Amino acid sequence: MKKLNVGMIGYGFMGRTHSNAFRKVTNFFDVPLQPVLKTICARNEDRAKAFAAKWGYEGIETDWRKVVESPDIDVIDIASPNDTHREIAIAAAKAGKMVMCEKPLGRNAAESEEMVDAVEKAGVANTVWYNYRRVPAVTLAKQLIDEGRLGRIFHYRAKFLQDWTISTELPQGGEGLWRLDVNVAGSGVTGDLLAHCIDTAMWLNGGIEEVSAVTETFIKERKHNLSGKVEPVGIDDASLFLARFNNGSLATFEATRYARGHKALYTLEINGEHASIFWDLHDLHRLQYFDHKDEGKLRGWRSLHITDGDHPYMKNWWVPGLQIGYEHTFIHQVADFLQAAAGGKGVAPTFRDGLATDHVTDAVLESARTRAWTKVK
Ligand SMILES: NC(=O)c1ccc[n+]([C@@H]2O[C@H](COP(=O)([O-])OP(=O)(O)OC[C@H]3O[C@@H](n4cnc5c(N)ncnc54)[C@H](O)[C@@H]3O)[C@@H](O)[C@H]2O)c1
Repeated sequence: MKKLNVGMIGYGFMGRTHSNAFRKVTNFFDVPLQPVLKTICARNEDRAKAFAAKWGYEGIETDWRKVVESPDIDVIDIASPNDTHREIAIAAAKAGKMVMCEKPLGRNAAESEEMVDAVEKAGVANTVWYNYRRVPAVTLAKQLIDEGRLGRIFHYRAKFLQDWTISTELPQGGEGLWRLDVNVAGSGVTGDLLAHCIDTAMWLNGGIEEVSAVTETFIKERKHNLSGKVEPVGIDDASLFLARFNNGSLATFEATRYARGHKALYTLEINGEHASIFWDLHDLHRLQYFDHKDEGKLRGWRSLHITDGDHPYMKNWWVPGLQIGYEHTFIHQVADFLQAAAGGKGVAPTFRDGLATDHVTDAVLESARTRAWTKVK
């Protein structure tokens, strides 16, 4: 099998999920390319060596530019914080490498536009890791909607709730806490959590026309880990918005890191003329489905256990009845990417799809600032 040499940038949370996906994909999927974990790049040499030994990388680098320039590397996988995405992706595209980039694509749509230009000019395969599209239950929801089973869509409802930044003692910035530093992250929960909800929503229900948003920063100052000083907090801690989709349906979106008791509660619901769908990340192998066409006395919400061979991706896993989890969504994205990359193509969500999400998050932040309904570019 032809090999695909991977240069991974970042060995944190996503560095692990991606490395795991590249290692396992050929055990479960028949794909035309064999990924090779060639180089792991991180700034700390000792830690990069330890990560390389644990995950089976052939070599390490401490400067991403060397990985991008290396003739040994076919694909650059960007699993580092948001402020690094633009520069690495553009350099990788210019060097003719395929690029896989973590979400959000840029810190704002202006950065993402430059990234889209770079990959499209270079003609290199690309994708953004909005992995929730490849939860089998969510992929099935897309199939049911595309088959017209829901009919006309009236409502879309999404939320993503966490509770890990409530303490006033929590500092901002630096390792593990870059998400609280607006210069690194670009925004708070809007770009971090709502971006996931928006990507799935536009995939399932089409483009968003306009938004009306409110955001809040509950804790206004935090000690910065790098400067050691107490500094203003620039991120949004909570972000809520109303939206109108191009198809005329209405939506509510909510994300926060201040919902005590919730760790990663991503839920979505879509209500159509004939049927409704509900999905919950905490129960990710189930899809709740209500079909008004059912016989009246038996009508009710069905809880579909998404483990059968005729469910998306599931024939590649275990036997019916046995479920899979979070890490598999990344394996699915790698499998789809390898299929497409063998023919020189990327897979959705592409950088252009990632830009579309950033246009919505920009509009959300603009609407919250101006307190007015805002058109999405
Ligand atoms: N798809 C998802 O569900 C999902 C989940 C979490 C994070 N993410 C995204 O993944 C990216 C990384 O997030 P994370 O949670 O893995 O962060 P993390 O803090 O766990 O890891 C970031 C890694 O990047 C490295 N890094 C930072 N600057 C670097 C540089 N200049 N050169 C090389 N390495 C550098 C750090 O050392 C660390 O290993 C972010 O863009 C984030 O938004 C996506």
